[in-house]
Amino acid sequence: MKTLTEAAIIESWQKNVQPWITAIHNAEIATRIQVTNQAIIDAITKPSPKAVLDVGCGEGWLVRELIPKGIDALGIDVIPEFIESASKQKVGRFKVLPYEETSHHQLKEKFDVVVCNFSLLGETSVNILFQQIPALLNDKGVFIVQTIHPIMACGNNKYEDGWREGSWAGFNENFTSPAPWYFRTIKSWKALFDANGFKLSKINEPINPITNEPASILFFGELDS
Ligand SMILES: C[S@@+](CC[C@H](N)C(=O)[O-])C[C@H]1O[C@@H](n2cnc3c(N)ncnc32)[C@H](O)[C@@H]1O
Repeated sequence: MKTLTEAAIIESWQKNVQPWITAIHNAEIATRIQVTNQAIIDAITKPSPKAVLDVGCGEGWLVRELIPKGIDALGIDVIPEFIESASKQKVGRFKVLPYEETSHHQLKEKFDVVVCNFSLLGETSVNILFQQIPALLNDKGVFIVQTIHPIMACGNNKYEDGWREGSWAGFNENFTSPAPWYFRTIKSWKALFDANGFKLSKINEPINPITNEPASILFFGELDS
């Protein structure tokens, strides 16, 4: 039986660095191009932030979108090859950093928006990260999470939190060993924000115009003052 653990998530991303960079570069993920890329760009830019932290930035496309809009953006990720690839393009700042070590103490700066775009896959690693986000936000800062829509991703499983096996269905044959992930219901996402001092000011469910179904869900957390 495959192990469904935090370590397996990172092992999977280590194996799939090159296919992922190529897939993003060649715009191979249709829902990103049709819906979710613009959804996250709109969500981030609406409050006119000066500084953004992109957590789990991958190869760095989102940081490269924000810099020309006059936003100082820092991307962090656990996979050194992603950070090397992103840094080579010389647009934006990047740093190797696992969620478990992400903190204001470590980064020594604050942001108007902290964003996680399809990057929250684990259980404990995500719980630990959430605890550190309030100290990374400026006053009136926003924590934005775009993730797979739980209702759309539930499939035939029970609608309850738990580890799920991953899949590269819809991706090309160069992808191997899909990352396991920790499924959270909408209620559990909300509870995670609540438990860390956030109130959800908004939830967006961008619709895929081809299928008329939600392409993702976006949570907007603001600190209770
Ligand atoms: C689906 S990719 C999304 C990348 C990027 N946000 C994007 O929109 O293209 C998930 C990313 O989360 C990162 N990641 C997963 N677990 C992590 C952890 N514990 N610490 C830091 N990064 C992690 C992976 O390395 C990967 O780059």
